[in-house]
This record gives sequence, structure tokens and C-alpha cells, in this order.
Amino acid sequence: MASVMFLFFTLFLYPYGAASLANGDVTAVQMHALLSLRGMVSDPFGSLLSWNSSNHPCKWRGVGCSRKHAGRIVELNLNSLGLIGGISPLLANLSYLRVLDLGENQLRGHIPSDLGHLRRLRVLNLTMNSLQGSIPTSLRGCTQLTKLILARNQLHGEIPGELGALRNLAILKLQTNALSGKIPSSLGNMLSLLILSLSNNSLSGMIPASLGNLPNLTQIFLSQNRLSGAIP
Ligand SMILES: *[C@@H]1O[C@H](CO)[C@@H](O)[C@H](O)[C@H]1NC(C)=O
Ligand SMILES: *[C@@H]1O[C@H](CO)[C@@H](O)[C@H](O)[C@H]1NC(C)=O
Ligand SMILES: *[C@@H]1O[C@H](CO)[C@@H](O)[C@H](O)[C@H]1NC(C)=O
Ligand SMILES: *[C@@H]1O[C@H](CO)[C@@H](O)[C@H](O)[C@H]1NC(C)=O
Ligand SMILES: *[C@@H]1O[C@H](CO)[C@@H](O)[C@H](O)[C@H]1NC(C)=O
Repeated sequence: MASVMFLFFTLFLYPYGAASLANGDVTAVQMHALLSLRGMVSDPFGSLLSWNSSNHPCKWRGVGCSRKHAGRIVELNLNSLGLIGGISPLLANLSYLRVLDLGENQLRGHIPSDLGHLRRLRVLNLTMNSLQGSIPTSLRGCTQLTKLILARNQLHGEIPGELGALRNLAILKLQTNALSGKIPSSLGNMLSLLILSLSNNSLSGMIPASLGNLPNLTQIFLSQNRLSGAIP
């Protein structure tokens, strides 16, 4: 499998020639990451036909490269392309990524914990898929995140208290999953939060009083859970 992948991406890397000068060389590590994702999804609508070797990877559909630093992939937006499959953990090697949007596809399996290595990531949108397992605690490593949108999947387990470390987060949407346990009081540390949506899960216990610390919160959705106690 590894050698097939290696051959695949060596063949891919060779042919750009002059085209690569204009867009800058995309490193082998970034190429490998894109191709590993490509290898993990099927593409029934041909949305990814541009992901071919005669086309520079910065021109591939959904791939955005930096204008300032040639060859750095800063955006991967494959929203609503009808992709079926899983999320490659090697996406964690797209270390310049600021936006990862795989929303509204048919992605299954777990959210790879390796994604927590994406220190420059600002937007992570995985909403409207069929992702299972729990929310990786490692996401606390994505310290630049402003939008974390994991709503409408089949995520289980507790909301990691570690997410409270995301001081730049403005939008946290986790509604319509199967999350359980208490709402962590550490969410009250996310001082940039504007929108918090946790509705339609199986959350229980009290609403933490710490949410009252959030100075800029404008919208909070907690309906369709098993919360108890008073409204703080
Ligand atoms: C490669 O991508 C380009 C740009 O989208 C497209 O015009 C071309 O038909 C593709 N080639 C193949 C073999 O799919
Ligand atoms: C690519 O990502 C994998 C999984 O996170 C990691 O094990 C590997 O060391 C990374 N490779 C490089 C060259 O960064
Ligand atoms: C996330 O994906 C959903 C579903 O396609 C879309 O409606 C929404 O605008 C996206 N949000 C962001 C911030 O990318
Ligand atoms: C609530 O979640 C269930 C599945 O967990 C889903 O079928 C239902 O449509 C959701 N309701 C709303 C109002 O989103
Ligand atoms: C709250 O919003 C104001 C006005 O947009 C902004 O200046 C301030 O930095 C925000 N506070 C936090 C803690 O993000």
C-alpha cells in the first residue's frame, strides 16, 4: 500500500515543469497528504477530476495556495461535493492550512486526532457528514480556530473540556450529534465566543454558571437535551 502510494505521488510530482514555477513547488509532504485523502474517498459526481497530474495542485478544485508564500496550501474546501469515504489523518501534514471545510459530504469514521497538529487552522467545518467516535481532545492544539463546526454527525462521548483552551473560538456548533455527559464548565473560558450551539444531543446535568462569563455571546442553543437544574 505504502509503495503504491509512493509511486502514485512520484508520478504526480514529475510532470509540472514550467507550471510549478508560477505556483511554487508544493512539497512532497503536502502532495502526499492530498493524495492520501483522494485515495480514501470515492467521487461519484467527478467533482475531483481536476485533481490530475497535468494540473498544478494549486489549481485542483478546492485547494487554495498562499499568494505570499508560493507552494503553501492554505485552504482545502471540498464542501458539498458528494464525496464518500473517510478523513485521512495525513491531512495533519498540511501544516499551513487555515481552512479545512469538508462539510456536507458522506464522510464516515472518526475525526483523526492528528488534526490537532494544524496550529494555523482557523476554520474546521465537518458538519453534515456521518462521522462517529468522539471529538478528539487534541483539537485544543488548533489554537487559532475561530470556527469549529461539527454539527449533524453521529459523534458520541463527552464534549472535551480541553476545548475551553480555544481562546479565539467565535463559533462552536456541535448540535445534532449523540454527545452525552455534562457541559464542561471550561467552555466559559472561550472568551471570544459569539455562538454556542449544543442542541439535540444527550447532554445532562446543570448548565454551568461559567457560561455567564462569556462577554460577547449572542446566541446559545441548548434545546433537546437532558439538562436539569436552574438557568444560571
Ligand atoms: C485534468 O484537469 C483539467 C482541469 O480541470 C481538465 O481540463 C482535464 O480534462 C483533466 N484531465 C483528465 C485526464 O481528467
Ligand atoms: C504526516 O502525518 C503523519 C500522521 O499525523 C505523521 O505520522 C507523519 O510524521 C507526518 N509526516 C511528515 C513528513 O510530517
Ligand atoms: C459549513 O458547512 C455547511 C454545510 O455545507 C455550510 O452551510 C456552512 O456555511 C459552512 N460553514 C463554514 C463556516 O464554513
Ligand atoms: C435531532 O437529532 C436526530 C438524530 O440524532 C435527527 O434525526 C433529528 O432530525 C434532529 N432534530 C432536529 C430538530 O435537528
Ligand atoms: C468582544 O467584542 C468586542 C467588540 O467586537 C471586541 O472588541 C472584544 O475584543 C471582544 N472580546 C473578546 C474577549 O473577544
